[in-house]
Parts: sequence; structure tokens; C-alpha cells
Amino acid sequence: MKITLSPLSAVQVQADAIAIPIVAGRGVPDEVAELDRQLGGIIAEIVSRGEHRGRLLEIMPVHLSGQVPSRRLLLYGLGSLRDMDGQRMRYAHHEMIRVARSHGYRTLAVVKAPPVDESNLAAVVEGSIMGTWEQRSRQTGQKDRVKLEELILLGFGLDREREVVAAEQLGEATNRAREWVNLPANQKTPEYLAEEARRMARRYELEIEVLGPEELRAGGYNLLLAVAQGSSVPARLICLRRRGAEGGPTLALVGKGITFDSGGISIKKAEGMHRMKGDMGGAAAVLAAFEVIAARRLAIDVMAVIASCENMPSGTAMKPGDVYSGAGGKTVEIVNTDAEGRLVLADAITYAIRHGATHIVDLATLTGAAVVAIGHAATAAVSNDDALWARVWEAADRAGDRVWRLPIYADYSVLLQSRYADLKNADYGQAGSITGGMFIEQFVEGKPWVHLDIAASSWNDKGDLTTIPRAPTGAGTRICVQLAELMAAESR
Ligand code: BES
Ligand code: MN
Ligand code: ZN
Repeated sequence: MKITLSPLSAVQVQADAIAIPIVAGRGVPDEVAELDRQLGGIIAEIVSRGEHRGRLLEIMPVHLSGQVPSRRLLLYGLGSLRDMDGQRMRYAHHEMIRVARSHGYRTLAVVKAPPVDESNLAAVVEGSIMGTWEQRSRQTGQKDRVKLEELILLGFGLDREREVVAAEQLGEATNRAREWVNLPANQKTPEYLAEEARRMARRYELEIEVLGPEELRAGGYNLLLAVAQGSSVPARLICLRRRGAEGGPTLALVGKGITFDSGGISIKKAEGMHRMKGDMGGAAAVLAAFEVIAARRLAIDVMAVIASCENMPSGTAMKPGDVYSGAGGKTVEIVNTDAEGRLVLADAITYAIRHGATHIVDLATLTGAAVVAIGHAATAAVSNDDALWARVWEAADRAGDRVWRLPIYADYSVLLQSRYADLKNADYGQAGSITGGMFIEQFVEGKPWVHLDIAASSWNDKGDLTTIPRAPTGAGTRICVQLAELMAAESR
């Protein structure tokens, strides 16, 4: 989809439809008054009669009969201004574009009308690009579907090509993460992720290291190997690095890359297990973000570290009661083989620290408890460092990708105590997302660290929240890019 900043007005533009944002309770925006005059007041009529109420995701096509060069209006609701934020703004456009595509429009103009205005150009573009993503990419017979070819932005300024390109990049990266999450596990093996990383390394001349089972054994990465040992598919620890600056911080973006999580011997119930192909959402976000970081040549030393394997039950699988110690040296009692993400992340973080990481952000579909704690509307976070957290918060705000921090109280430490080892990997009944994070904290060696639990936010499997697509979301992708941008700017 091509995106154009146009000097034309809504009265002049020729498009299959003109999209007009409507805020609940606000009437017809001033910006479309002239257009409405030309149309004989049809917009005012629809709004004043309450036929379109401006509710978020309320999207209504209106046919025109030649009063202006464009053929239709597409009224789309934004909800009430009080509830508006970057995530809702993006999703309003995500859905507006999806409806435009479903009607087969090839060209679509968007009218500026606050809060859809210059200040929200990035959100409009990112949301619109995300709206072009197709979850049904594996269905045959898609080729003859009409594509939305051009999005024409009216009144957003003309000299803003660079911002449009940057926002397109972020939208596309988010879609790439979504597509990876969407891929079935039989195609998306750890080696598949490694191959994607190698492709990226060649294209952007990045440092890359991929460890397989032998190298992992030599390095003592026994927690990752313990999770992997139940599967016939070999594990990979993947590291991409770009040294964009010297003497500053080294940011490690660490992703959980479980390409299928059956639970292992502590097996999950059948219903919904197919969704565990998405247990590499953290890896997807980190990889997709890293491509943008590399393309932008950001002035920061940054690495993407991905711990990838399957978690399967078999005769060779790890068992509840087993004790392993990974590269970090701490001994871990496996209480529940389904708490595997924290095990592989522990080793990935040790790898990052061995290679000089000074700041660590991990992204992981870690706990079902995140769905309970905060639902699909945001990512649950924990952190040991207020300064790094403040940057992640700012990055998430710029990204329009919500995060919310949960507390780490010392009280919870008992929940990780084992009678047999330094730590146990699971407990039951309370503070599941926090203790998952606190387990990981045991391996960060005091470095500033933020843990983003995207188990709920990376894939909304129920359609009951109005602001989240019922599909993989690419949660965390844009946050990683914005964070690297912020840290690069600060250390300059
Ligand atoms: N991958 C799951 C978490 C998950 C659940 C992601 C739902 C996406 C949707 C993770 O490996 C897991 O199984 N966690 C356990 C931890 C428990 C055993 C302490 C969980 O949440 O039940
Ligand atoms: Mn699990
Ligand atoms: Zn998992």
C-alpha cells in the first residue's frame, strides 16, 4: 500500500472512498464542513440523527452520486476523546482499513479532523499499515482479492515524507512479527528463526552467532537444553548484534522463542493448545524490531538474543523434580515443565551478559496469569530499575503499545524457594506473572532489566475486547525500536 501526503482537499480528491473520523458526541468535524456543504449536508444528517454515533470501530460506508470526484464516504468512529490513546488510535485505523479492504476499495483518502491530525500522523500510518495484515495468509485462493493500493492523507502536511516512511517501517515490522506468530510450528522451527536472523545479518551486515546443541552444551546452557531435550527438533540460541556506538550502553533485547509449547510432561489441555505455536511472540517482536534498528543504523550497541526450542513430552523430556543448572550457575528444580520460558530466558540472559550487555529487556509469552492480571489490553511488566523502566514506559507511549508495571515485593521470594535447589521454576496460586519475572531477575546479575510479559497482549484469542485485533498483535515490536531510538539519542 502506497501512502501519499496530498495537498488536495476532500472536495477535490478522487478516491474510491473518503474516510472521515467521527468522535462520539462531537458532531461533524469543522474540517469536513466544506465537503458536507457540497454533499448537501448528508454527513450532518447522519450524525445528528444518530445513524453514526462515533463509537470506536463503528464504520459506515455512504454512497455518493457525483457531487465530488470521490465515490463514497467511509465514516469511522473514534469513541470518546477521554478514552483515546495511541493504542486505540492505531486500532481505529487498523479496523477502518480492514473494512475498506473488505469492500474492495483500491484508493482511500483520509481526512484530517482532530484527534486524527498532524500530531497523530505516525499512529494513523502505523495503524493503517497494520490493517493491511491478513491472518488468513495460509488460505489458498487469496490472490484474486482486491488490494488497497493507495492511502491518501489529506491535510496532514506535505513535508513529512520521512515520518511517513518511519511509521510505515514500524507498521510493517509489527506485521512481520504477527506473521511469524501466525506461522504453524511445523514450518517455524528454531532453525527457521535462525535462518531469518541470518538473512537479516547478510542484508544489514550484522554480527551473528547461532549456537546449536553442541555449542550450547559446551557453553553450559543446560536450562535451554533441558527444555529442548523432549523434542526431536534441535534448539538454537540466536544472537544478532549491531555495534552502532562505542562507549555507551549495550542494550540486549532478549526474546522467548518457544516454537511450540505443549507444556512437556506437565502437559497442557488440548483445547487451545494449537495457539502455543505463538509461544515465540517475544522472539518475533525482537527479530522484527531488530530489522528496523539495523535499517535505521541507530547509534547504539544493541543485540537481539533469542532462545528457541520446542517444549515437548517424550521419553527424553525433562521431568518434574529434575534439577538443572544453566550457564548462570544457579541450580533450578523443575516443578512444572510448563514453566519453560523462564528457563530458556535465564540462559539467554546469561549469554547476553557474557557478551557485555549492560541493559536487558526481555519479551516473553511467559504466563497465562498475565491474561488474568491485565487481560489482552496491555503487556504486563516487572523491572528492577526505575530509570530503565521510565524509558520503556516512554517508548511504549510513543509506540502506542501499552505496558503496565507490576510490583516486585520481597514477600514473593518465598514462592521461588526450593527445598532441593537454589530456585524452583513454578509455584501455584498467586502473583504468577510477577514470580515468573522474579525468576528471570535471578539471572540478570543486578543489571538494569525490564521484563515484558506479552502472553496476553501478543495474541488476543477472544473477540471480546474492542480495541485489540482477534489475532496476533505484534506486541512489543515497536516498543523495542522506540527504546533503542531513545537510548541512542540519550547516549549521544
Ligand atoms: N507459554 C505459556 C504461557 C502462555 C499462556 C502464553 C497462555 C500464552 C497464552 C508458558 O510457558 C506457561 O505455560 N506458563 C505457565 C506457568 C505456570 C506453570 C507457573 C502458565 O501460565 O500456566
Ligand atoms: Mn509453558
Ligand atoms: Zn511457554
